[in-house]
Amino acid sequence: MTQDCFDTLDATHFLSHYWQKKPLLIPNGVAAQALTVSPDALAGLALEEGVDSRIVSSQDGIWQQSRGPFDATHFQVPGPWTLLVQGVDRLIPEVAALRAYVGFLPTWRFDDIMVSFATDGGSVGPHYDRYDVFLVQGKGSRRWKLGPTCDNATPTITHGELSLLADFPVQEEYLLTTGDVLYVPPHVAHWGTAEGESMTYSIGFRAPRIADLVARLADQTLDSVDSELLLTDAVAITPSQSAGEIRPQDFENVRGAVFNTLEALDSENWFGELLSEQGEPVSPILHRTELVAIAPCAKVFWRRDINGCHVFANGAVSPPFETAIIPTLIALCGGEAVAVVQPRADSLLLDFLDEAGALYDPMDID
Ligand code: SIN
Ligand code: CO
Repeated sequence: MTQDCFDTLDATHFLSHYWQKKPLLIPNGVAAQALTVSPDALAGLALEEGVDSRIVSSQDGIWQQSRGPFDATHFQVPGPWTLLVQGVDRLIPEVAALRAYVGFLPTWRFDDIMVSFATDGGSVGPHYDRYDVFLVQGKGSRRWKLGPTCDNATPTITHGELSLLADFPVQEEYLLTTGDVLYVPPHVAHWGTAEGESMTYSIGFRAPRIADLVARLADQTLDSVDSELLLTDAVAITPSQSAGEIRPQDFENVRGAVFNTLEALDSENWFGELLSEQGEPVSPILHRTELVAIAPCAKVFWRRDINGCHVFANGAVSPPFETAIIPTLIALCGGEAVAVVQPRADSLLLDFLDEAGALYDPMDID
């Protein structure tokens, strides 16, 4: 049992039986006191420029979606409606604190926490997502229907920007009340409907696209491969018998050369660099304050190898640090603020993170 995970959940059991495999209801997974964002506070965020928000409504079988920022008049919608705000973890520290419940999952897979408010009967319709999500019920209740695993061939109906499932054979149904959690794996059909006014926190996890990984590894290899290097025939080739033919053995040799080169030149830093590039740098802290933490929009990851510990922050890659800095890194990446006491062994780490625009002063409330 991991200390931080949902109350009744055995993390190891969850990872081997449910993660990316099948849905799981976790009753009372989160304490009600951790779920106190009010509908007004959420609506306030949706008024702001730069906050990703949308309203989905339905009336007489017609679904509609509009995008924020909104003003108060937009909340006078005919029929049931849902307001959804992305990235609330980056805006409200109390929502960011929910990440501790999923601390047993790799931090680099975390995407964001979306919070929704729905009026009675409000729904975003029957759909599937390509991402893992933990649906945490805040105030009120929401009925979730779960259907089959879908793919690109599953029939959908387009309503403006919304792509909804044409059919929804219900396989499971749960009424979530405050604190209940429903884990939904990628591609599993789901359909939530508010019963009374209802808030849901969606803790989302996103896997990188394979196409992006291949492109990045290829780019990194091209940066370091000798452009004059030619293919050699690694094993003795046999006489060619058919003019024009590219034989299986020829292609095997080519494939071997390509994969050997990718492997030989792989610094293993490209992946952390790619992931951390999505961070949004903040201004460096010019006068180091007593406490520092990783800024809500920054992305910081690290890996260790025989040379030490490599840190990736907002796309920057550090030289290898001594592994003695690892406890500080774990604290920072786990959302903790770290006290700055001079001189300290990890001040080089803090300098690096600061220069990458990844640190902020958590006491600096503007
Ligand atoms: C909602 O909060 O109602 C939508 C969440 C989802 O379906 O992923
Ligand atoms: Co969904």
